[in-house]
Amino acid sequence: MKSQILTAIEQFQIDTDLGLSSSPAYLRPKYFYDEEGSKIFQEIMNMPEYYLTDAEIEIFELNSKKIIEHISLTYDEILLLELGSGDGIKTEIFIKSCIESQLQLKYIPIDISSDILDELKAKFKINHPEIEIDARVGDYFQVLESLKQESEYKNVPKLVLFLGSNVGNFSNQETNQFIEHLKNILDPKDFFLIGFDLKKSPSVILPAYDDPRGITRRFNFNHLLRINRELNGNFDINKFDHHVSYDPLSGEVKSYLLANTNSTVVIGSIDKVFNFNKWDSIYMECSRKYSISDMEKVASDHGFQVLENYFDRNQYFCNSLWIRK
Ligand code: AVI
Repeated sequence: MKSQILTAIEQFQIDTDLGLSSSPAYLRPKYFYDEEGSKIFQEIMNMPEYYLTDAEIEIFELNSKKIIEHISLTYDEILLLELGSGDGIKTEIFIKSCIESQLQLKYIPIDISSDILDELKAKFKINHPEIEIDARVGDYFQVLESLKQESEYKNVPKLVLFLGSNVGNFSNQETNQFIEHLKNILDPKDFFLIGFDLKKSPSVILPAYDDPRGITRRFNFNHLLRINRELNGNFDINKFDHHVSYDPLSGEVKSYLLANTNSTVVIGSIDKVFNFNKWDSIYMECSRKYSISDMEKVASDHGFQVLENYFDRNQYFCNSLWIRK
C-alpha cells in the first residue's frame, strides 16, 4: 500500500472530524496555536493570574547555578536541546549562567513555529553572539532522531529542556509515550530538565485558566474560529460558554466549551454537520497539576533518576532535573 503523507490542513480536518464526531466531543489542544492563538497565548503568559511563567523564571533565577553544578561534575561542554523553545526567555537566564560558569554549550531550540525561532535567533545574536545556535523547525522526535544521525552530534552529552508545564497538556498515556520515547533517544548519563505545575489551592489555579478579562475564554473560542477560517465552518461562538473545572484528586484542570442553546454547525471542507443540544460539551484541554510523588513516579517508570527538584518561592512550580540511567 502506498504510504500517505498528510498535509497540515488534512490532519486538522481528520482530527476535527474525529473529535467532534466523538461522544463526548473534544478538540485537540495542539490546534490552539495558529498565529492568532499564539498571540493570545502570549497575552495569557503576561496575565497576573497565570502564575506559571513568573514562577519558572524565578526558578531559573534562583537555581541555574545549581543545575549547572550537576552537569559540570561530569562534563565541561553540553548540547542544550529545548523542545518547544518558543522565544527562549527562560532559557536565556539559564544560558547566561552557563556563560558565567564557563560551561561550553551549543543551543538547539526546536519548535514548530519558524517565526518564533527567527525571533529567538535575532535576540540571541544581539544578547549572546558567542553562543552557537542551530535552530530546528519541526516535530520534536523527528528532529531528535535526525540529530542522532549527524556526526557532529554523536556522543555529545545532552541536556534536554521541556519547560512551561507542557507535559501537563498530555493525557497519562501521551506522557508515558513521550517520556519513554525520549528515554530511547537519549544516551545514559544525558540530562533532562522538565517543568511541572504543582497541585495547589484551587483559588490560585482556577483564575489562571478562567481570568476575569476573558483572555483564556478568547483563547478557547479562537479554536472554533480557526475551524471557521481554515475548514469553512460556521461556529457561532455566542452559542457556547467557556467552563473550567479543577479536580484536586487527579490534579486535572479541564476546559470545556458548553452549548448554551441548541445549534447546528456545518464544516464545509469535510462536508459534515454537527448538532449540539443545549449543555452539550466540547472538551478543549487538560492542564494537569502534579504532586512531587506523581512526578517522581513518571521518572522512575521510564528509566530516569531524579537528581534534584527546584522550586519557586511560593512552591507553585517545579523544574525537575533527571538523569537517564
Ligand atoms: C501550554 N500550556 C502549558 C498551557 C497550560 O497552562 O496548560 C496552555 C494554556 N491553556 C490555557 N491557558 C494556558
